[in-house]
Amino acid sequence: MSVTRELIDILRQQQRLEKGQWKQLLSQYTKEDREYAAILAREVADKIYGRDIYVRGLIEFTNYCKNDCYYCGIRRSNLHASRYRLTREEILSCAMKGYELGFRTFVLQGGEDAFYTDEKLCQLISEIKQRYPDCAITLSVGEREKSSYQRLYEAGADRYLLRHETALEEHYKRLHPENMSLKHRKQCLYDLKEIGYQVGCGIMVGSPYQTIDSLADDMLFMEALGPHMIGIGPFLPQKDTPFGGKEKGSFHFTLFLLSLLRLAHPKVLLPATTALGTIHPKGREYGILAGANVVMPNLSPVKVRDKYALYDNKICTGEEAAECRGCLEQRIKSVGYQVVTDRGDYKGICTRVG
Ligand code: SAM
Ligand code: FES
Repeated sequence: MSVTRELIDILRQQQRLEKGQWKQLLSQYTKEDREYAAILAREVADKIYGRDIYVRGLIEFTNYCKNDCYYCGIRRSNLHASRYRLTREEILSCAMKGYELGFRTFVLQGGEDAFYTDEKLCQLISEIKQRYPDCAITLSVGEREKSSYQRLYEAGADRYLLRHETALEEHYKRLHPENMSLKHRKQCLYDLKEIGYQVGCGIMVGSPYQTIDSLADDMLFMEALGPHMIGIGPFLPQKDTPFGGKEKGSFHFTLFLLSLLRLAHPKVLLPATTALGTIHPKGREYGILAGANVVMPNLSPVKVRDKYALYDNKICTGEEAAECRGCLEQRIKSVGYQVVTDRGDYKGICTRVG
């Protein structure tokens, strides 16, 4: 048996590898290893989640952002970005449509927009919770103070997505301006976890200056954090950003990492992301076959969808919510899985119900 295949077996059995082993696996794997890891990953996911795939209704409610991440299409300095903010009524109407379509989790995502104070967000969260007490609310609004995360949690937010982007300091500095720090981002994740959120971290696969070393550090960081969700998708360039001319991430390598993450974190909620669906027409289906168990169709009003342009050629910017849901349902069915109407909580401890 090859060394890399042996490493995949060790990962399956022990749910962890040493840094040197990660580096060896990530740099020397073959196509056969990729396929083997996908089979094992699917077995693990099937054992825990069956053939069920969870859906999250994604509401991209603001594309204003005070940050200037070099990779991101809605960064502050992108003067070509046409800015929008959904009103409270528009957000509630997205949730209503979503509920009717069978969504039981809403993900409120946006740039770091000072307009959305704790007070405004708390009001919004409690209003959604009041109307749909059987739904979970996931927030993805970047770095905030611990006291702010606490208030949002008390208002009813259940989960929080905050990709760490990279666990290696030198890499983080090449993706972000001086005023942003990896230390603070990691601290946010630990704070969120301590408060009681189901927490998601993650990376872009193939982001500029990513190395085998930084990826191995990502794996170790995720082992230490123990996230409930992990969001990964390929890096895709956006033409009006400093990284507009950089290479996109690899489709197959993203699939391989999805499988390895499933083996390292068997119960983790692992989305087949929109970026994966953008890089390949059947990306999300392949993502599921590689071990993913979540999809996040867009619930935002069609008129703003193309404005939340993190990268070029983003899919699903022209369809109504109902079409998005129907289309994904069919796609998932085509690979032998089913979308379920369920909050889709993490199957382990740390779950807050209601
Ligand atoms: N502001 C929040 C935050 O910082 O977590 C949420 C919004 S942010 C746009 C969500 C994620 O989009 C980022 O964590 C990043 O990984 C991803 N993203 C941004 N630009 C991207 C690009 N060019 N290609 C792929 N993913 C990208
Ligand atoms: Fe803020 Fe991308 S730079 S969301």
